Amino acid sequence: MADCIGILTAGGDSPGLNAAIRGVGKAAMNAYGIRVIGFRDGFRGLMENRTIMLDSAALSGILTIGGTILGTSRDKPHKMPIGTKTMDMTEVMLETYNKHHLDALVCLGGGGTQKNAYWLMQNGMNIITLPKTIDNDVAMTDVTFGFDTALNIATEAIDRLHSTAHSHHRIIVVEVMGHNAGWLALGAGIAGGADVILIPEIPYDITKVADSILKRSRGGKHFSIVAVSEGAMSLEVARMKQELEDRVANSEDKKDKKRSKQELVILETERAQSTHFLTQKLEELTGLESRVTILGHVQRGGIPSPADRLLATRLGTACAHYIQQGTFGVMVAARGDGAEAVPLEEVVNKRNTVPLDHAWVTAARDLGTSLGD
Ligand code: F6P
Repeated sequence: MADCIGILTAGGDSPGLNAAIRGVGKAAMNAYGIRVIGFRDGFRGLMENRTIMLDSAALSGILTIGGTILGTSRDKPHKMPIGTKTMDMTEVMLETYNKHHLDALVCLGGGGTQKNAYWLMQNGMNIITLPKTIDNDVAMTDVTFGFDTALNIATEAIDRLHSTAHSHHRIIVVEVMGHNAGWLALGAGIAGGADVILIPEIPYDITKVADSILKRSRGGKHFSIVAVSEGAMSLEVARMKQELEDRVANSEDKKDKKRSKQELVILETERAQSTHFLTQKLEELTGLESRVTILGHVQRGGIPSPADRLLATRLGTACAHYIQQGTFGVMVAARGDGAEAVPLEEVVNKRNTVPLDHAWVTAARDLGTSLGD
């Protein structure tokens, strides 16, 4: 029987986090009389013992609010930035956990948070997690909360860009979040009727992208919308990245390993600029005036969609039941209409990327949308 639990939100914020906090908290209090303590700013708040009592007053009125009332950070327990150093602060976090006599710690987050939570589990805490991220790339769950809201925002943006692209006979390249997975660009691209969709899972050939735009132009459509994931890359960059990653993983020469790591960092920095480069190149290759729109953090902000509120509430309330049963070391995954406890070791070090034969990919191809390959 649990008496008191802790809860924290870590990684990038995501619409639906407050709905999930509310779901866990209300179900834990109402059904089982469990007290709930919130830790501020992710794992840093656990280290610094910065808390907020999540009683019914604190949980009231937060369902529709974006972001997280607890605050968040990307700090990791075993690599915590302290001044100019990075230190392993796991023991300090364990002290906080024990000081509050916690029966469990609930960690709400994406792939990185699942890993950090697993680490704390291996170090003796009763851990239970929920999957959130607008990228929808957490493994072993049908979907993550935050994704639906971001999908709505990105789709609306593409809808709006259509009329201006059409009026000016321009190419508009719209960059959608998603560093390693293309769910958001693909989903919003299809829903918004983008003419080209570029995602990290399918490296693109820029001449093929330009050809598809020119074909539209010859057919009398002198504008095009290109939806691109922030992590999309050309065939050349994908090849370079793969080579460097292989060298980092396999090289027996320490200097070569180090150099490859540094080159990977440079490549990642250049990738951050790649949408601007892509836009400029498309203008050169097609002769059509081109503009770029980076949607950025707008996609993570504001009120969660009803679907995200429902999902977060479903997973949050299920989480309280698992805690009462003593089911720990798991992520509460969305499975069909219900929830399922998946062991954390099956979740960590995996990523839910877009399968190349996914129905969305097939549908886009059937529509004649260019995926750049
Ligand atoms: O949390 C996921 C995400 O929104 C990614 O899509 C994006 O690449 C990243 O976070 C941005 O992180 P930050 O807000 O730390 O700049």
